[in-house]
Amino acid sequence: MSLFPPPLAPDMSVAKRPTALTWGRLPLASRFLLAPLAGYTTLAFRLAVRELGGLALATTDLVNARALLVRSRRTMELIETCAEDRPVAVQIYGTNASEMAQAARWLQDYGASSIDINMGCPVHKVTRGGGGSAMMCEREKTIDLVAAIVQSVTIPVSVKMRLGWDDTQLTAPAFARAFEEVGVAGITIHGRTRAQGFGGQVNLEGIREVVRAVRSIPIIGNGDVRTLDDAAHMLTTTGCHGIAIGRGALLNPWIFAQLQAWDAGRPLPPAATYAQRLDFMVRHFRLLVQYRGDHFACLTFRKVANWYCRVLRPGHALQQRLVMLDSVATFEGIAEQLRQTEAYHSPDEWTPGEVALKVPSGPTEHW
Ligand SMILES: Cc1cc2nc3c(=O)[nH]c(=O)nc-3n(C[C@H](O)[C@H](O)[C@H](O)COP(=O)(O)O)c2cc1C
Repeated sequence: MSLFPPPLAPDMSVAKRPTALTWGRLPLASRFLLAPLAGYTTLAFRLAVRELGGLALATTDLVNARALLVRSRRTMELIETCAEDRPVAVQIYGTNASEMAQAARWLQDYGASSIDINMGCPVHKVTRGGGGSAMMCEREKTIDLVAAIVQSVTIPVSVKMRLGWDDTQLTAPAFARAFEEVGVAGITIHGRTRAQGFGGQVNLEGIREVVRAVRSIPIIGNGDVRTLDDAAHMLTTTGCHGIAIGRGALLNPWIFAQLQAWDAGRPLPPAATYAQRLDFMVRHFRLLVQYRGDHFACLTFRKVANWYCRVLRPGHALQQRLVMLDSVATFEGIAEQLRQTEAYHSPDEWTPGEVALKVPSGPTEHW
């Protein structure tokens, strides 16, 4: 934490850094956003993170526009939200401009705070039909599609994209400029190409090129920000106006509140103890129960149990029961057992183990 530098020194070449962000006409409480992680950033997780403070905007999992128009049950679950889950962007993907625009209109009536268009997803299921990151190879069609969505709603429309399809086609700066012209409110840029998948380093220079390409809309840098130092490095190196944090928020859901305090020049809240980390897991699970019911809460929790176990290190036996969670009573019993540990009563910062999320290992793998 001591490495974290003082508020940004002005750098006139990239001096476009409002401390509060505006997303179209929507004011945001900070400049730190939760990046969508399909299957993880559910309503329950978003609410649990919001309670810790500092979050500007959260985004749902990506949903297919056509599936939304027929109100597929699974899609309706993915966009579930509530009054406390605001502001929230719903992320859509698809290739048909009219369907995407209709879906956006429907989402506006549904109460979404903004619409995010997915142009970054690398997985075959999405790109084979021309969606996700494949949109970055189709200049005119993509710009027309984005323009059609912007014109169909009054809420802000944003785009989340990668640097391009591969190193030979770094189309993000040109797209960013064109999207600003058709009225997009902001852009999140993951500093990798589609060919990179999730491997290699985030290309901060590539993000900086996107920042340079636009006149005034906010550019949100994304990729591999796990610590406050990473965030400071992203801001200073790229000149981006805000940061979207995905996997780092699973590791440290307090990161938004910590960054907001840093931005405001306030002392950083102390790093989380074991008790706070356990309490966060319990809160997350109870919100899952509240919104999904006992059975689906247990099934959904199994997906996230592994990374909680890496954080809390409950031992093999309890880990096995959490990853096969069968009832609310089992969960509450395990939480109670962990409250009896020495770690739970320690006032010291708790350092979690390395949390690795399963990511597609190559650009053509199914998610
Ligand atoms: C498991 C997983 C699911 C993801 N789901 C989505 C998604 O639904 N929509 C999207 O735009 N990006 C998605 N992403 C990409 C992230 O939003 C983000 O761009 C990427 O993980 C890099 O940021 P990070 O290092 O902060 O996680 C996903 C990434 C992972 C690992």
